[in-house]
Order: sequence, then structure tokens, then C-alpha cells
Amino acid sequence: MDDKKVGFIGLGKYLPENRLTNKELEKIVDTTDDWIVTRTGIKERRIARDDEATSDMAVRAAKNALQNANLEPKDIDLIIVATITPDMFFPATACIVQNKLGANHAPAFDISVACSGFLYGVAIASQFVKSGIYKHVLLIAAEKMSSVTDWKDRSTCVLMGDGAGAAILSEVKEGGILSVHLGADGSKGDLLCMPAGGSRIPASMTTVEARLHFLKMQGNELFKRAVKIMAEAAQKVTEPLGLKGSDISLVIPHQANKRILNAVAKRMGIDPEEKLYLNIEKYGNMSAASSAVALCEAVEEDRVKKGDLILLDAFGAGLTWGAVLIKW
Ligand code: UT7
Repeated sequence: MDDKKVGFIGLGKYLPENRLTNKELEKIVDTTDDWIVTRTGIKERRIARDDEATSDMAVRAAKNALQNANLEPKDIDLIIVATITPDMFFPATACIVQNKLGANHAPAFDISVACSGFLYGVAIASQFVKSGIYKHVLLIAAEKMSSVTDWKDRSTCVLMGDGAGAAILSEVKEGGILSVHLGADGSKGDLLCMPAGGSRIPASMTTVEARLHFLKMQGNELFKRAVKIMAEAAQKVTEPLGLKGSDISLVIPHQANKRILNAVAKRMGIDPEEKLYLNIEKYGNMSAASSAVALCEAVEEDRVKKGDLILLDAFGAGLTWGAVLIKW
């Protein structure tokens, strides 16, 4: 059992058609295209339609991954959806996806790990495959961040986007997941949260008026931690295997801010032009979906070759973080 290799046999994505550019945001809040590009690297983001919920995007990404893996929904043994913007509190979005896909015999559950959700999902899914409990696990990271974005708050509304990525984790003959590191620091949860709507502060007229159902973020506090923690997480999965940052073929990070990612690359001693995968320019920060979509696109664009060492590295609300080292 120990030498069973677990990897990705199919990847998929779905991005809503509607593009919201920085120029359009200039008309909504007091901001400029120049500020957003310089401070974040974002040029535009996708926004889901009003009638498009997280599960709808998740299903589209899942179908794409199933097709790429040459599998049918009935082949799926477990569905995990990583999201902080579920269709509703309950039932789980994964159950809604199970029904829409017709993957009837698959158990299904959500995980709420914000931007690190795809990496936590990879860790969970790979254990189920490695143990032999399940053969094919469908992992989806899907977010409708626009549904929790305060369009009056310029410090956050310029950052977020909607989208979904999916992966099927199964036994592979070569390569696979080499190492996983996960972490959390609940003491700093208030740096990025949605204060109301849960059991602590249930929804009421007052909470709506106080705009407490929107994402609140202390960006610069997170910025400092993100750089340090993502660089350390990378070390945690490379050093025990005798590897250095420079041994990595491609780093595919959570796309929160281009400046954060360039600083992480610097700490890792890698050339960002060559070894850092970025698509933040097109999509902004899609929370859990960012890493999943980035991995899918890196493969589509041929940035990932057989035998390459790929590092997924993420950080976000919780605080939570994770790193996953993969041999492709
Ligand atoms: O997803 C994982 C978790 N999230 C992150 O890791 C995000 C980490 N943080 C960031 O990416 C950055 O902190 C931000 C992009 C959010 C902000 O960049 P910053 O360089 O840290 O800016 P700041 O918050 O220190 O604000 C600098 C100035 C402020 O003005 P004053 O006080 O210096 O006059 C802000 O009011 O920029 C102002 N500002 C804006 N100006 C134009 C904030 N947002 C905007 C905006 N347009 N959209």
C-alpha cells in the first residue's frame, strides 16, 4: 500500500464569461487601473451570472475534468468541494454537485478552507486513494466570491473573481504526490472573514445594514504573513526530500497578489519569469478555485512536462496554508 502513487488523471476548469475590467471598476469605486495593476497584478476578473451559483460552476469544471480523465460520473467514488461560497449553508454544495452530475453512489462533502481549500482537498483525496478506500476522487474548488464582495469597499472588491477548477485523483503508475504540508493559525482568523450569517451573529436586518455579510480583510497584515508562510511551506515539502527551491520546475501558487508571489519566488531563490506560474492578471483572487484553475491552465499551456517537479503553494483565511509537491 505504501508505494501506491497517487496523482491527477484529469483536470478541468470553468470561468464565467462576464469579464469585469479595472476600467469598469473605476466607475464603481474610487480606484484606478494603475493602482490595481501596480499593487496586485490584476487586470480583470470573471463574474458569474446572477442565476449561476457555485455548484453550477463546479459542475462545469467537473465535467471538463471527467472528460479529460476519460471517466463517466458513475466512475467517481467520492466528491469533495472546497468552497467558502457554498450555494447555501446546507446541504453541502458537494451533494448538489453529486445530484447534478448524476454521480449517484459517491459520498459527498464540502471543506471550508478558503484559499488553501484545493490543497487541503488534495491532501484528503490522496489519502482516500492511497488507502485503497476509493479509486477515483473528484475534487472541485469553486467560488462565487462576487456573492460575498462588498462593491462599496475598494480595498477588497478589486481583488476577487469567480470560477471553478476540478481534479480527479487516482492511482498513477509514475510520478504523483511526493509530499504534503498543511498548516493553520486560528488566532489570526479576524484578518480575513465574513463576520455575520453564522451562529455567532445570525443574519438580521441589522447585520445586513452593517454590511456584515461581506468579506472583510486586513490586506497589509495578511501580505506580510503570506510571503513568510508560503516560503516556509515550500521548504517544508522540499527540504525533507533533500530538494531546494531551485530544483522545482514550476511553482503554481494561490493567486492572491503578484507582489506576494514575486517575493515568495525571491525567498525560494527561483526566477519568477521562468518558474512562477501566474494567471492572476486574468482572474484575480478566486480563493480556493485559484490553485485549481492555475494547475489546469499550466498543464493546458504545456508549462508542465512529464517528470517535472511541481509545487502548489497556498495561503488564506483561517489562517490556513499548504504546500503540495508533485512529480508530474
Ligand atoms: O487570498 C489570500 C489572502 N489574501 C491576501 O494574501 C491578500 C494580501 N494583501 C494584499 O494583496 C494587499 O495588501 C492589498 C492589495 C489588499 C493592498 O495593497 P497594499 O499595498 O497592502 O495597500 P494598503 O492596504 O496598505 O493601502 C495603501 C493605500 C491606502 O491609502 P492611504 O491610507 O495610504 O492613503 C488605501 O486606502 O491604498 C489605498 N487603497 C486603494 N487605492 C486605490 C486601497 N485599495 C485601493 C484601491 N484603489 N482599490
